[in-house]
Amino acid sequence: MESVKLEQQERVVLITIDRQPMLNALSRQVLAELKEAVESIDVKYSRCVVVTGAGGKAFVAGADIAEMQSMSKSEAEAFGSFGNSVFRLLEKLEVPVIAAVNGFALGGGCELALACDIRLASENAVFAQPEVGLGITAGFGGTQRLPRLIGEGLAKQLLFTGERISAQRALEIGLVNHVYPADELIPKALEMAGVIAAKAPIAISATKLAVEDGRFMSLDKALELEARHFASCFESEDQRQAMSAMLEKRKPQPFRGE
Ligand code: COA
Repeated sequence: MESVKLEQQERVVLITIDRQPMLNALSRQVLAELKEAVESIDVKYSRCVVVTGAGGKAFVAGADIAEMQSMSKSEAEAFGSFGNSVFRLLEKLEVPVIAAVNGFALGGGCELALACDIRLASENAVFAQPEVGLGITAGFGGTQRLPRLIGEGLAKQLLFTGERISAQRALEIGLVNHVYPADELIPKALEMAGVIAAKAPIAISATKLAVEDGRFMSLDKALELEARHFASCFESEDQRQAMSAMLEKRKPQPFRGE
């Protein structure tokens, strides 16, 4: 892969989008490589993924405008659908995904971060959905995930004005969870990934699925779903040994995902 790097660091996978002269803009090729990278993750071994951009200036400066400029309606539809399918793959991965947003996260870059489970940002991160200034809508999930995350009023403001917001503002509105000095972002993201990786993997993926799949159910149905995920953990060795360890006042064995 030319523009997407995948590094296995014990149980954590670091994905870096690296198309630096173009500020990591998402062309079809980059999206295809991102798909390949996500599909290659061994979710039985890996327990958390961190996604970032190379170069320190941009996380991802959006979908590739040069490539989009001459697209026909049907080509644009295929491009949007492909982008959505790749981001959905990431969103539905069994293991949590953390976006380490280290600079411009514009358009498709902001949408990539939105498709991750957790967003951390560097102090120089900048977020925007500037598409309406280019004569298009957000096309990789921004019109759907942004309102769900930060509320419809603020999301519509960002989507209608295209305004850029700072990492600090993104923190205030719940678009990101933490802001760190640039040189601390990746270590902090990997540290959080390490904490997640040390927890019981069956419980983590059941938790992710309960949140994801329960979101649009009635509360009654969603609580039934949660009960099923809760119950499924009781078939795991990890649950038995961790609870015994707690009751016997000793540390649990490392979780095995069994
Ligand atoms: N698609 C294609 N190329 C892009 C790009 C994108 N989304 N974002 C940046 N680039 C390219 C620039 O065209 C430039 O290429 P060049 O060196 O061949 O001229 C290169 O990346 C560097 O960007 P540049 O604009 O020179 O850097 P800057 O520091 O002046 O500005 C940004 C940085 C991010 C503010 C500016 O590049 C920008 O606004 N990009 C587009 C963001 C956007 O609208 N994204 C949503 C797309 S739907």
